[in-house]
Amino acid sequence: MKLKGLMVVVAGASLMFAVSQTSFAGDKSEGYKLVKANGCLACHAVDQNKVGPSYKLIAETNKKEYGKDALKEIEKAIEKGSKGKYKKYGITAVMPPYNYLGKQKIETIAKWILSLSK
Ligand code: HEC
Repeated sequence: MKLKGLMVVVAGASLMFAVSQTSFAGDKSEGYKLVKANGCLACHAVDQNKVGPSYKLIAETNKKEYGKDALKEIEKAIEKGSKGKYKKYGITAVMPPYNYLGKQKIETIAKWILSLSK
């Protein structure tokens, strides 16, 4: 009985994992293509904290903190880098600056990140 219960839990968890993986694997937006092409996904995932905070958490945090200036703040963070903002989530690594991407790409990425939070 005990084993059966455990198996149900494991099956449920792996199903949830599969669903959350596939929901973004098919993301064809320009923003997602850019973060993929520029190595951002080494440290970030869409809905899961890794070395860096998830893009959903970034969207929510900046919306809450900066309201209509959230887009500008996210662009600034990509351009100049960031550190210490996500300490309370156990994230102590540093976000390197990506100013070489240029304004256009940074804006596209920032808009895509913001679009991930309702
Ligand atoms: C070496 C790992 C690493 C890479 C590569 C990386 N990031 Fe980050 N990123 C981080 C960390 C760590 C933080 C959290 C910094 C903090 O606590 O302030 C972060 C934070 C951010 C933030 C939020 C900053 C804020 O002010 O809310 C954005 C936006 C971001 N990254 C976008 C990107 C994009 C876009 C790329 C690719 C061009 C990228 N990151 C590549 C580690 C990385």
